[in-house]
Amino acid sequence: MQLNLVKNMADLQQALAGLRTQGSVGFVPTMGALHAGHASLIKLAKERSKNVVVSIFVNPTQFGPNEDFTKYPKMLEKDMETAKAAGASLVYAPSAGDIYPEGFSTSISAGNMNKILDGAFRPGHFDGVATVVAKLLLRVVPQVAVFGEKDYQQLCVIRRVVQDLDLPVEIIAAPIMRETDGLAMSSRNAYLTPEERKTAPEIYKTLCETVKHIKAGMPHRQATAEGVDKLSSMGFKVDYLELHDAATLNSIESLERPARLLVAAWLGGTRLIDNIAMG
Ligand code: PAF
Repeated sequence: MQLNLVKNMADLQQALAGLRTQGSVGFVPTMGALHAGHASLIKLAKERSKNVVVSIFVNPTQFGPNEDFTKYPKMLEKDMETAKAAGASLVYAPSAGDIYPEGFSTSISAGNMNKILDGAFRPGHFDGVATVVAKLLLRVVPQVAVFGEKDYQQLCVIRRVVQDLDLPVEIIAAPIMRETDGLAMSSRNAYLTPEERKTAPEIYKTLCETVKHIKAGMPHRQATAEGVDKLSSMGFKVDYLELHDAATLNSIESLERPARLLVAAWLGGTRLIDNIAMG
């Protein structure tokens, strides 16, 4: 299959008009540095649609002033190969000016999501995500859009935006892809030193152990506190390790409803996130 590249909204609309004559359109928004996790999202979108559009845009508005925006890996040629191998038909790699033209000033608030978990540690992050994803969905107007469960809170924010703003798209969640040692695949894993890379899988092991403790009857706040201690003793600086309602991400006391155990922790200069379903 042929893979085309467009870099602005006018060319995107022209390419989409052609794709729509062939059938449904699926969409996978990314920030590039594509890995096997992204490939799995593209394959999932392809199972559900005739053609898949992948966007590659490192969105400045979702990075804080001291975050990794300027060093975020960029590799368009390699990304094109990955997207093509996974079955994409079109890559949309806009400039910042194409997404945020002169005078741009409107944004979406992610509301309460800004106060919990990553929202509390990354001020403005989810407003930036919500705004850019809404813009991309409105430009591509796909039937389905696929997001990875690795960024679980982001997935919840996007579901909320789509529901609250009546965006006509079905959001599909794709399971986390892991390296053989359990580390969740992420473009940011490339920042880890060889030594840190050996330690990084402990984050997933700790999630699994914490789930085991809670299932065995340990109160979840005790189990997560033990998990934080374990990770800290191994050199992580933990932002949070918490159990939340799987749909709303509200705090929970008991396990009557499906829950999600979520973690964010720094290893050296790299912030890793991961999560696991419970119940
Ligand atoms: O998950 C990502 O790569 C980004 O947050 C997204 C959804 C492409 C928005 O910039």
